Amino acid sequence: MSKKLYIKTYGCQMNVYDSERMAEAMGADGYVLTDTAENADMVLLNTCHIREKAAEKVYSDLGRLKPLKAARPDLKIGVAGCVAQAEGQEILRRMPLVDLVVGPQSYHRLPAMAKAAEAGQKTVDTDFPQEDKFDHLPDRPKAAIRPTAFLTVQEGCVCAFCVVPYTRGAEVSRPSARIMAEARGLVEKGVREITLLGQNVNAYHGAGPDGDWTLGRLVRELARIDGLERIRYTTSHPNDMADDLIAAHGEEAKLMPYLHLPVQSGSDRILKAMNRKHTAEQYLRLIERIRAARPDMMMSGDFIVGFPGETDADFQATMDLIRSVDYGMAYSFKYSARPGTPAAEKAPVPADVADERLQTLQALLTEQQRRAQAAMVGREVSVLFEKPGRLPGQMVGKSDYLHAVHVVTDAKPGDIGRVAITATAPNSLAGALVAGNAT
Ligand code: SAH
Ligand code: F3S
Repeated sequence: MSKKLYIKTYGCQMNVYDSERMAEAMGADGYVLTDTAENADMVLLNTCHIREKAAEKVYSDLGRLKPLKAARPDLKIGVAGCVAQAEGQEILRRMPLVDLVVGPQSYHRLPAMAKAAEAGQKTVDTDFPQEDKFDHLPDRPKAAIRPTAFLTVQEGCVCAFCVVPYTRGAEVSRPSARIMAEARGLVEKGVREITLLGQNVNAYHGAGPDGDWTLGRLVRELARIDGLERIRYTTSHPNDMADDLIAAHGEEAKLMPYLHLPVQSGSDRILKAMNRKHTAEQYLRLIERIRAARPDMMMSGDFIVGFPGETDADFQATMDLIRSVDYGMAYSFKYSARPGTPAAEKAPVPADVADERLQTLQALLTEQQRRAQAAMVGREVSVLFEKPGRLPGQMVGKSDYLHAVHVVTDAKPGDIGRVAITATAPNSLAGALVAGNAT
């Protein structure tokens, strides 16, 4: 009899990738995935610590599991991910219903921890072990594969506001041969698009057969894999946008024209306090160079408002930068002080000021996003179909520019088709297949 595992994933794409790998590791031990906690023998929360709200959500979700655990005391509850790493033992103290706590670098130890839990033993593992966790996880079973996949290549980064260096450990890159093998395996199983993941993915410098590979080199080698049609990578740091990577955007057709390149602020004073090590001007020049290599590049970014010490003038500098770049997509957040980070020691901006700035900034970003979408109407894009849409006969997929596109078609998940965009909605586009069938 197989046991049932429910995983809830919070936070970034790296957690999505990790959840899949944990499901595979547990699958080898007879656990099959289920989509509700009510059905599960084990519930695993793969958590995010990036902002206070995200971290606190885990405790409210654990609170909601209490009646379930009371009714079924043999239900096992695990906390994985970045809250697990940051708070470790504290989670067991605050939430006695938890059976195991496992940090992001220890997932290969999860099956053993699950066995301990089944035997009534609580375990906490928040080590940063020497071995590569990915090497100790089993190969991906076919059933888990969709046309698009994430592939983690690098972890770790250094900004003054961010908890990730504390939750994911020092900056490390996986050896190139392992990544190439994982990518080939995914493609053999039907994956057509791979998104390379890293907190600072363009700082990738994995050991290769002929010295360290850069991300540019990795992209070029991946582009030679037959059957792999699209390559993306996220998240990049402006300081690590090397010339060979920029050049690859002009030369490798499989490298998609969408770049998430967070700047966080447009004020040099704040950038310095954030430990970003570049100015607003340098960022703007960098984008010029990227657009020279790939004129249709869709730019995306992240912004933090209300960083300690941010004045009105600093905020206006951020607004000016946004106007200069003209983003196709962007994410923005109110600064959240994270325990242990250098920025958390400084006096915060009053909450009402930060709230107002966030609204102003989001209004501008939304307007830019709408305009970028509207500009797609009348254009032809390629769409990788992923799943049925909401309406009958409809499929939904992503364009080269990462817009969700709805099309009435008999294309299958994994097919790529040329689509003429006919309409735009708040968060997606609609279009019609041009010339022939999708392949
Ligand atoms: N590096 C990961 C996740 C970064 S967090 C990735 O690959 O996506 C995503 C964004 O959250 C950051 O770019 C930043 O804009 C925001 N962020 C990080 N720490 C924050 C904090 N303490 N308060 C508010 N926003 C934060
Ligand atoms: Fe959150 Fe950890 Fe990702 S803190 S954003 S889950 S790296």
